[in-house]
Amino acid sequence: MKLAIIGATGLVGRKLLEIIEEKSLSFDKIITAASPKSKGTIINISNKKYKIVTLQEALNFKPDIAIFSAGSKVSQEWAPIFAKKNIFVIDNSSQWRMDPNIKLIVPEINGNLITNEDKIIANPNCSTIQLVMALKPIYDNFKIKRIVISTYQAVSGSGKKALDQLDYERKNKFDSNKYYPHKIDLNLIPHIDNFLDNGYSKEELKIINETKKILDDHNIKITATAVRVPIANCHSLSVNLELQEEFNLSEIRDLLKNTEGLKVVDDPFKNEYPMPIDANNCDLVRIGRIRKDLDHPKALNMWVVADNIRKGAATNALEIIKYINDLKTIKI
Ligand SMILES: NC(=O)c1ccc[n+]([C@@H]2O[C@H](COP(=O)([O-])OP(=O)(O)OC[C@H]3O[C@@H](n4cnc5c(N)ncnc54)[C@H](OP(=O)(O)O)[C@@H]3O)[C@@H](O)[C@H]2O)c1
Repeated sequence: MKLAIIGATGLVGRKLLEIIEEKSLSFDKIITAASPKSKGTIINISNKKYKIVTLQEALNFKPDIAIFSAGSKVSQEWAPIFAKKNIFVIDNSSQWRMDPNIKLIVPEINGNLITNEDKIIANPNCSTIQLVMALKPIYDNFKIKRIVISTYQAVSGSGKKALDQLDYERKNKFDSNKYYPHKIDLNLIPHIDNFLDNGYSKEELKIINETKKILDDHNIKITATAVRVPIANCHSLSVNLELQEEFNLSEIRDLLKNTEGLKVVDDPFKNEYPMPIDANNCDLVRIGRIRKDLDHPKALNMWVVADNIRKGAATNALEIIKYINDLKTIKI
């Protein structure tokens, strides 16, 4: 099986290559593509060298699968071209996520929806993935009426140029090509992606709309505030959930503990709760600070932390491959 990684020089692309090595996933060929300026560049990941080619060259290699992590414009233009050649495209950008003809997949939740006809499969937004991973067992058992989310999103979520800004600021260097409109170190920026006329940022709407699409429930009331925080990696979410049914906290904890992909870290009196520093470079979504909403008998709060580059992007994309019927018989 031939795999193309589009955007291989970026944070998500490099992490894909790292995970393939780490998990010993074996592909017959890995094709690494990026922008024309990187053509011919050699990148070194986990002691392996990969030569960067252009998108057209990647297409000419006739891969079986292409994971796109090169932004929406590249996906808009090139994903249909790859798909027409019968190449399965797993797209990390936001380009196709809300297209009614494209499936938005978190394998543990709705991987079973994938058919051989789905030539383009969308990977959700990084905050959405960790949110729905935490919500799904609760949703299935108690139904959810309303969700209030505040995000604390790491700088890596904006890509390598943003991490460069954080690095420059920490070294007290002046960076004339700032990625963010403000200093990010020692700051919080309540602004992720562009603002819309209704006052929300596009990131906030991605979280709201993608969550409804993945849970396949457009009646849930959801609101979100997305904030960029000055840490390098791992997103954290504060989540308030209003359920339709009465619940015991112990039932919720047990459900979360028994769900694959989740790790409950919840013993505040021992200083145990999810933190980015522990979630870094892990695939599990960590959940803690699980507590009843004191003013609402059917509501609770929780704190959800995960590595946005791994489960929020690279790991989720690689797991999707296992659900593609045409490919799942092939061992990777
Ligand atoms: N970072 C996250 O946490 C995260 C999570 C979920 C989804 N995503 C999505 O994944 C994608 C990549 O994110 P990232 O954080 O890896 O960004 P990044 O670090 O900025 O990397 C961007 C990649 O895209 C390539 N690229 C840019 N323009 C291109 C073009 N015209 N043709 C081909 N390749 C081009 C870049 O190649 P050069 O090096 O040659 O410029 C680089 O490899 C984005 O769509 C993002 O929204 C990111």
